[in-house]
Amino acid sequence: MKEIEILSGAFEKIKAYITDNQNNSKPVVQFRSPAQLKEVINFTVGEKGVSENEFLELLDKYLEYSVKTGNKQFLNQLYSGFNFPAFIGEVFTVLANTSMYTYEVAPVATTIETEMISLMNSYAGYSDGDGIFVSGGSNANLVAMFSARNRILPESRFEGYDRNQKLVAFVNEQAHYSFETAANVLGIGAKNVIKVKSDKKGKLIPAELELEITNAIKRGEKPFFVAATCATTLLGAYDPIDEMAEICKKYNIWLHADGSFGGSIILSEKHRHLMKGIEQTDSFAWNPHKLMNIPLICSALLVKKRGTLQHNITDINTDYIFHDIDTIEDLGKKSIQCGRKVDAVKLWFAWKYFGLEGYQKRIDNLIDMATYAEKIINEQSKLELLSERQSFAVCFRYVPDKESDLNKFNLELRESLRKSGKSIVNYGYIGKTLAIRLITANGELQKSDIDLFFSNVLSEAKKLDN
Ligand SMILES: Cc1ncc(COP(=O)(O)O)c(C=O)c1O
Repeated sequence: MKEIEILSGAFEKIKAYITDNQNNSKPVVQFRSPAQLKEVINFTVGEKGVSENEFLELLDKYLEYSVKTGNKQFLNQLYSGFNFPAFIGEVFTVLANTSMYTYEVAPVATTIETEMISLMNSYAGYSDGDGIFVSGGSNANLVAMFSARNRILPESRFEGYDRNQKLVAFVNEQAHYSFETAANVLGIGAKNVIKVKSDKKGKLIPAELELEITNAIKRGEKPFFVAATCATTLLGAYDPIDEMAEICKKYNIWLHADGSFGGSIILSEKHRHLMKGIEQTDSFAWNPHKLMNIPLICSALLVKKRGTLQHNITDINTDYIFHDIDTIEDLGKKSIQCGRKVDAVKLWFAWKYFGLEGYQKRIDNLIDMATYAEKIINEQSKLELLSERQSFAVCFRYVPDKESDLNKFNLELRESLRKSGKSIVNYGYIGKTLAIRLITANGELQKSDIDLFFSNVLSEAKKLDN
């Protein structure tokens, strides 16, 4: 059978790919411009289907020119690494291809999601909590804001949002852009997400939050939602949840923790103090697809109060799907999606495989690796640390001898490194200063990988600085 032959060919490619992930001498990317990529891969779908060999060749090409996010020199995004048990879990969920709306079509997956939510809630300290897997951290933030709006203005679920009641939300000025998108989607308006000043380390300043809230009240606005970011995207800073919780209690405002990036730190006994006060929040976005290295997408929104998610859904006029026959609540009844991937399953396979202790060690290792990277920067005279490391992000730049425009030089440096295929790292701006941002997200990183990264940076920089 043609498919079985393709499958065994594909299996060999998968094995080779996984083995290469551990090989630091393999490029992290074979960079091609968009035009060059079209020269090496025929993207057009033809009238007739391709042959077995052509199909296998396409599989090869897909892997060849994709970025190798499992390579330990992929230090670019807030996710990376290859998580073997989660990969197998993903393959099996695709094989079973079921959808998370009802127990009827997803009995095992429904039970697994329920178990995962309960385990995650136990870390969050939500004793009567609930939650749902969503399609990413941005959507977790959206559903959190949606839940907060529905708590303060329940009638808006049916009548639409009354614009005379000007709802305003508050986030760290360095919070993720998804909050503005959420306000946009909900009809609240992106301009009504007020950016609260942060300190030098990137943490929201509680006194500034209170000031912004009181100013909004004076203007006749209705504060309804505050987000504490648990690891900001650029600096990896953790907002002071406990102090923010006091303020939110005082003004009766929903407090959300956006742990899309750094929420997994809660698994570490040593470092979870960075999320002190999490049990006082109303909701918590936690993305296992980032620091737990689960293949994208794997993201959960936890809520402190059971019933919150069901309250969001207005019409379950769906006797064609929810039959209420299996003595268990169908998870679809609390989701804004209908068909939904069983993303909790790959997480469950990985958590089973590593155990609670194994995952704790992986997260501790990420902090150790970031600490090590920071130490190298501090010891290397050509490198400058641009902000004190807070967690998994290390921001630095190279100081060249000849070029006086440091932003220009460091932009070129990161581009030339990326195109060399040796390492990939990202950059952002701290004020007006371009910072190269190294992220330790791959649980299997070792000191030798960090050493190799800096040796690649230095050799590339030397080439440019002559
Ligand atoms: C702090 C923060 N919140 C939210 C998100 C969005 O998460 P996702 O990419 O899963 O939508 C990110 C992504 O980088 C993030 O860093």
